[in-house]
Amino acid sequence: MTTVGSTVPLDRLRAEVTGSPRLSALTGERYARTHAAYEDASDQRGRLREWVLRELPPLLAGRDPVRVVGVGVGDGSVDAPFAGLLAGPGRGVRYTGVEPHPPSALAFVGRLAALPAAALVPSVVIGDFADHDAGHPADLVHFLHSLYYVDDLAAALAHACAIVRPGGLVVAATAPREPLCVLTEMLCPWERHRPWFAADVQAEMDLRGLEVRVETLVGRLDVADVLADPLGRGEDVFDFLVGARTRDMSPHVRAEVLGYLTAICPDGVHVPHPLDVVVARVP
Ligand SMILES: C[S@@+](CC[C@H](N)C(=O)[O-])C[C@H]1O[C@@H](n2cnc3c(N)ncnc32)[C@H](O)[C@@H]1O
Repeated sequence: MTTVGSTVPLDRLRAEVTGSPRLSALTGERYARTHAAYEDASDQRGRLREWVLRELPPLLAGRDPVRVVGVGVGDGSVDAPFAGLLAGPGRGVRYTGVEPHPPSALAFVGRLAALPAAALVPSVVIGDFADHDAGHPADLVHFLHSLYYVDDLAAALAHACAIVRPGGLVVAATAPREPLCVLTEMLCPWERHRPWFAADVQAEMDLRGLEVRVETLVGRLDVADVLADPLGRGEDVFDFLVGARTRDMSPHVRAEVLGYLTAICPDGVHVPHPLDVVVARVP
């Protein structure tokens, strides 16, 4: 099996990786730091933010207050401008972020609280989405880059559908497995399950009989530093890319992984960085 634009057989890469010692997991703190470096190296988050600000407000028109639950909101970089836009016309906004990493959760709520929007009421749940009882039905539950991590994908989507009002929205932005997430799938040391990717989310939505609209945002990730200096200035991006401490990688595996990255990087700098955004209206 090869990926689009690649001449490196993924099966060979997989064979090289299989049997090599497992890498160490990223701590919560290192995850947050390497994630920031990764987003800085890519234009994908900007594209996602633009998409959210352009596409979602019209779908929530007429709701006052509008109730949003974001799952895995991180530091609120995408949610804060969205919440601010929703609250712009003086409309009531109840915006809840569910985020298990406490420093990120605090950053999220700090960003929303700093917005000049009196009718915006932010709240944060530091913990698991499964335990979150929204109280009032939500107009929108979104998972922007967070479904990879949930233990039980079916349960997470079922819970989202259960807390959204009839006619409300469930939105998921999840990367496809290829070309980049194959590396996470092969190398991340997750104990409980492999990460869920876009095709898993789509399959689960289909199983639930949800009608969905899917859009692919094609970003570009700058991997020049990863290729030139993976143990130095490229280390943070490399860690987030594979979801593990790449410092522990054997030189042989590192060379294979960098070979794969080089093969999908026609200009020597950028690799395609796609994201599938799924919008489902709950009946
Ligand atoms: C890649 S970040 C995305 C953050 C933000 N939504 C964005 O687009 O910038 C993924 C976030 O999901 C959070 N997360 C990890 N496991 C989770 C889980 N089981 N449920 C919900 N969120 C989770 C992480 O702490 C992290 O903040």
